[in-house]
Amino acid sequence: MTAPAIQSASSPQSAAAAPSGRCPTHIRLENIHKRFGKLVVLDGITLTIPERESVVVIGPSGTGKSVLLKHIVGLLRPDQGEVYFRDKRIDNLQERELQPIRRRFGFLFQQSALFDSFTVCENIAFPMREHTTLTESEIKERVAQKLAMVGLEGTQNKMPAELSGGMRKRVALARAIALDPEVVLYDEPTTGLDPIRSDVINELILKLNDELHVTSVVVTHDMASAFKVADRIIMLSDGKVIAEGKPDEIRHSQNEEVQRFVQGRATPEELAALHRKKK
Ligand SMILES: Nc1ncnc2c1ncn2[C@@H]1O[C@H](COP(=O)(O)OP(=O)(O)OP(=O)(O)O)[C@@H](O)[C@H]1O
Ligand SMILES: [Mg+2]
Repeated sequence: MTAPAIQSASSPQSAAAAPSGRCPTHIRLENIHKRFGKLVVLDGITLTIPERESVVVIGPSGTGKSVLLKHIVGLLRPDQGEVYFRDKRIDNLQERELQPIRRRFGFLFQQSALFDSFTVCENIAFPMREHTTLTESEIKERVAQKLAMVGLEGTQNKMPAELSGGMRKRVALARAIALDPEVVLYDEPTTGLDPIRSDVINELILKLNDELHVTSVVVTHDMASAFKVADRIIMLSDGKVIAEGKPDEIRHSQNEEVQRFVQGRATPEELAALHRKKK
């Protein structure tokens, strides 16, 4: 996934070939703590993501995966700890200073979050209109290019309500890459999709990595997706990183909690509680 297959002229990354050996650090989280009221969500997360790496974050529901993604892009601020984009500390920046950095990210939200009263074209054009001085014809051309990338040519005039769940995700993805981001954050990109549509999304993630040379952070519960798109998998539990490794290392992890998650097995206690309730 780190080896470029096709050079994209539109990519800001295409000129910056990966140096031999380890790529430079793109994102770094240093000992991040975050709580909401009494609820401790992130409890000391340290994470380094090199350029062009595809990192998958797994972990039980409510464990802080979405909260973690929001810290990477400055939508949430840590109570303690530091967030770096390249070598620049960003968690302490003013909103105004954060804007140009945020523009270098694409964010596929957990709910596709399309504007329902906008056409597909208007949805994808939105960030271009907000953040660039492109002309109308340039915007149209770019929207068509992004739609082609996600395999939805010719759907410009459709409304979101006319699309299937998988198509909406692909439109949301086209919007996430509207400004040719360096980093794409995906929050549950395959949730709610059937296995075939999920695989289309997985292939798209791989394609974006190859063609746009992006760095990716993918949050998912979908282990087939995780194993397909990850260079590295990180498992969170109770606000901490409990496992980290290449897909094969995670697959063969000796950690009982990791194994249960990967195989989708409930704990004996959870099963016992369920059977007690049934009686
Ligand atoms: N803005 C917020 N205010 C208060 N509590 C929040 C906020 N955002 C998240 N939380 C809480 O933080 C915890 C972690 O939430 P998060 O959305 O990160 O979980 P998750 O791991 O992404 O779960 P899922 O797999 O279900 O999406 C939850 O208990 C959630 O209710
Ligand atoms: Mg979430």
